[in-house]
Amino acid sequence: MSDNPFKRPASRAGIRDPRNATFISSLKDIEAGRHRKKQLSAHTSILRLEDLEEIEELPADEPLGQAPQPTTVASKMMAFFGPKGGMGTTTLAVNVAGTLAKLTRNAVIVDMDLQLGSVPVSLNVKPERSIAELVVEATNAGSGPIQSGLDRHPSGLTMVAQGDRIEELSTVTSDRLPRFFDALGQSFPYIVIDGLRDFSDHAVGVMDIAHLVVLVVTQDVPAVRAAARSLRLFRRLGYGPDRLKIVVNRFHKKAPVTLEAIGNALGQPVHAVVRNDFPLVEEALNCGVMISELKASGGLARDIEALARSLGGLQADAGGGRSLLGRLFRRK
Ligand SMILES: Nc1ncnc2c1ncn2[C@@H]1O[C@H](COP(=O)(O)OP(=O)(O)OP(=O)(O)O)[C@@H](O)[C@H]1O
Ligand SMILES: [Mg+2]
Repeated sequence: MSDNPFKRPASRAGIRDPRNATFISSLKDIEAGRHRKKQLSAHTSILRLEDLEEIEELPADEPLGQAPQPTTVASKMMAFFGPKGGMGTTTLAVNVAGTLAKLTRNAVIVDMDLQLGSVPVSLNVKPERSIAELVVEATNAGSGPIQSGLDRHPSGLTMVAQGDRIEELSTVTSDRLPRFFDALGQSFPYIVIDGLRDFSDHAVGVMDIAHLVVLVVTQDVPAVRAAARSLRLFRRLGYGPDRLKIVVNRFHKKAPVTLEAIGNALGQPVHAVVRNDFPLVEEALNCGVMISELKASGGLARDIEALARSLGGLQADAGGGRSLLGRLFRRK
């Protein structure tokens, strides 16, 4: 070996097989390289589509468990569930809740990720009142509503989150949660929940009193696999298609993992799609505002409004037939 680690070897031959090595020496080479890359991506699927077929389909005749009827809370309560991190669950929960607040003037978002919830940072609102404090207040209120002022985003959406007060968490017990949501439901006809990502007692307790569970998935194999695993557990807990809706976020028409493939793998059709628009979502997050406040008439805001209306049981607006999923299915 040479003493000088920076000294280049005298000949290429000893380093690697020259047939596989690419030495770019001119602009033409770069262009040819680009061309090769294009050809490659057209013929090889990095996503390994065949993986989707390997996902064991959920047998349609598998007996469902029995989920309790969501009778505790009078208002519409919808729980967003992210079977895998980073799929945009919080983005959808926050913006659906914001849309419901805009349409009905009465919606609340509850961040049930009690330790590391990201709803306050997405909305740029520091929680003054913690979930723990409100759970105790609801318990003490007997059967009444929560009276005291709750945190509010400038858009009109009310927010309930734990914030940094993790020392209070022992008061948030599963048996107190139905009363807490009942008390919130007396003031808010729409309750949107974020921060659920497992099947702990807390999470199942909340989903059992929710009217709808919204399972968020993206168009990639790991996401669909994770969704299939969660769905299997949901089925065993008794959540059928009437109670659980699949929403595809960051939807792209030309993505190799199609809506049909997702529907087949999960044994239930996709309920709605929300298109991909990273710059707009990022800007909304950076400014702590709703997507519709930035671009009310854009496609992404329209998809979110259509989703909020369908989940909330609100009539589609006059131009509401323009949601992406609606248009996709109409074209067929
Ligand atoms: N429709 C969309 N189009 C483009 N980018 C999106 C969309 N929805 C979400 N994103 C981006 O995805 C990223 C993750 O979003 P978000 O925090 O909402 O995901 P999450 O599933 O809640 O993540 P976590 O697992 O941390 O809870 C963000 O950077 C956001 O900008
Ligand atoms: Mg999240």
